[in-house]
Amino acid sequence: MADQAASERRALIVGASRGLGLGLAETFSAHGWQVVATQRRSTPDLERLTGKGVRVETADIDDDASVAALRQRLAGEKFDLVFVVAGVATEADKPLHAVSRAVSAQVYLTNAVSPILFAEAFADTLAPGGTLAFMSSVLGSVALNEDGGWENYRASKAALNTNARSFAVRHAERDYGILLVHPGWVRTDMGGAEADLDVETSVNGMVAVIEAFAGRRDVAYLDYKGETLAW
Ligand SMILES: NC(=O)c1ccc[n+]([C@@H]2O[C@H](COP(=O)([O-])OP(=O)(O)OC[C@H]3O[C@@H](n4cnc5c(N)ncnc54)[C@H](OP(=O)(O)O)[C@@H]3O)[C@@H](O)[C@H]2O)c1
Repeated sequence: MADQAASERRALIVGASRGLGLGLAETFSAHGWQVVATQRRSTPDLERLTGKGVRVETADIDDDASVAALRQRLAGEKFDLVFVVAGVATEADKPLHAVSRAVSAQVYLTNAVSPILFAEAFADTLAPGGTLAFMSSVLGSVALNEDGGWENYRASKAALNTNARSFAVRHAERDYGILLVHPGWVRTDMGGAEADLDVETSVNGMVAVIEAFAGRRDVAYLDYKGETLAW
């Protein structure tokens, strides 16, 4: 894997219409990877990458039929990276008791369940030595939760971490590694204007971390600088 030419590497980036997913699609293709990047609906920012090493596809991770249709369209294709980036932070600034059960449940489904269902559908597309990555957050760390805040979102990312570890056990014989990634606090629609990092800094870091992770078969929880986070 380490000797594999970048032009032979293939990535599937799920949730690339804007923010970190868009930045990842652009940067992996700039590194010579062949990228398949998904959006829910037509987005000019992603579509302008078409032909520059990026193929644009459509998928909603909350919609089983949409995921199955994508799986069918990608039949026979192999990926060195499948990265589920998509996530939501609906009413994240409210304490748990101020959020309706319906909203809490939907955040859990999108952030913690749908990525795993997507991974189940695409596990057999991973090339040996490849990486299955999920966009987590430092807020998903139970051990590091000393400040509270973003309660429902935080719980959903903790659940994603746990579900990914269960997935790893269920797929113990796999020949690919599993990565939970914290991108830093980044200026996107979700991260807001006050965040620490621009998209470029975060994405350059994550691409370097993912390229270095190639060939590993364990489960790791790393930030965009490659630092290990406490579960
Ligand atoms: N920004 C930060 O500081 C930060 C920190 C830690 C973790 N994260 C995580 O990083 C990921 C990307 O965040 P971001 O900051 O780039 O947020 P963003 O700008 O709000 O982008 C969210 C992306 O997820 C997609 N998405 C949401 N629900 C989806 C679904 N059901 N199916 C397919 N795609 C879906 C969105 O597509 P549409 O355009 O169609 O809505 C969009 O492409 C998220 O998982 C987030 O939790 C972000």
